Amino acid sequence: MPEFRVAHALGDYTVTIRPGVLDELPARVAALWPGRPVVVITDETVGALLADRVATDPWALTLAVPPGESSKTRARWEALTDALFSAGLTRNAAIVALGGGMVGDLAGFVAATYARGIPFLQVPTTLLAMVDSSVGGKTGVDTPLGKNLVGAFHPPAAVLADPLVLQSLPPEQLRCGLAEMAKHGIIADAAYWTDLGESADQLHARDPETLTRFIARSVELKAAVVMEDERETGRRATLNAGHTVAHAVEHTTQFAVSHGDAVAMGLVAEAHLAETLGVAVPGLAERIKAGLKRLSLPTRLPVEIDATELFEAMRLDKKRSKNELRFSLPHDIGSMARDGARWAIPVRDTQAIVHALRVIGAA
Ligand SMILES: NC(=O)c1ccc[n+]([C@@H]2O[C@H](COP(=O)([O-])OP(=O)(O)OC[C@H]3O[C@@H](n4cnc5c(N)ncnc54)[C@H](O)[C@@H]3O)[C@@H](O)[C@H]2O)c1
Ligand SMILES: [Zn+2]
Repeated sequence: MPEFRVAHALGDYTVTIRPGVLDELPARVAALWPGRPVVVITDETVGALLADRVATDPWALTLAVPPGESSKTRARWEALTDALFSAGLTRNAAIVALGGGMVGDLAGFVAATYARGIPFLQVPTTLLAMVDSSVGGKTGVDTPLGKNLVGAFHPPAAVLADPLVLQSLPPEQLRCGLAEMAKHGIIADAAYWTDLGESADQLHARDPETLTRFIARSVELKAAVVMEDERETGRRATLNAGHTVAHAVEHTTQFAVSHGDAVAMGLVAEAHLAETLGVAVPGLAERIKAGLKRLSLPTRLPVEIDATELFEAMRLDKKRSKNELRFSLPHDIGSMARDGARWAIPVRDTQAIVHALRVIGAA
């Protein structure tokens, strides 16, 4: 049974990935927090599908927010927090975050801040949440100025991932997870990347054993990076591979392109940039493109967008940190490039960036 220990300065936790593990949740909660009130926080879609199996008597409360990123706000955090106060809950309470990354981030932030912090369980129900957002200890909400701008590091008490719940996941949500898994292969494991491409059919068919195997390896890869660098001072930046371009694609299309699809395009464009800058082996972008296609991930923009518009979106995105664009660039499949001690490489060559954007179809 795949089980991993993730060690954080703020606390250690175990990630369990197993078909059927959801049915053990009530017993695990009782063992972890005997006699303590437990609040299940979920979204309405996931709640309708799974809350009955999770929130059995004598659990205190199930709170469901509307599904979608628009619920990841300070207003929802406030409403949830107030609901906990109204129920008379103290710091003796604990939270179960049942849902995708939106729920995990929001419920995790409620847990991080309620009575100065109460424990919570991550029960990810999307592929993206299983391989990405439930591991690493980041929680938070969005503001009108940008995503995840308010938050806290608050590692969960444990993560329980049941690949069987992915049967009901819409295909575009499955692709979001696959894109992050492809990213993990590019960052750290060439064999995993190859295996992923060869297993595309089983993954799309949601074969539980195949999903379990790949989720486990992705969790292991992400956990290794996170443990090496908890607070994004170094290697954690590699997890942003593909994401500088992806965020620009999401913004310029007003989020009509999903995060996963944008990441796939970003991985291709950034690999091309890495080749142009001479930090990647020649032919890398083409190999990445072929692998992503095998996974049925898009490698070109679905609509015509001006390269300069994408470039401006990238500059705006990064203005908050420093007036210089940084990329986590691949060296080869399985290894990332670095600039001295830095994994986020500053790129001043505007032409090279624009050229890379043209490769994914920007005008
Ligand atoms: N904390 C981190 O380190 C981290 C990392 C990556 C992403 N994130 C965050 O994660 C969020 C994205 O997560 P997501 O892609 O899981 O989105 P999500 O949580 O919004 O879920 C996507 C959709 O799938 C539905 N859904 C969830 N599970 C389902 C199931 N089993 N069957 C059917 N439908 C289901 C949800 O109701 C929702 O409509 C973003 O807010 C992002 O910022 C956080
Ligand atoms: Zn991502």
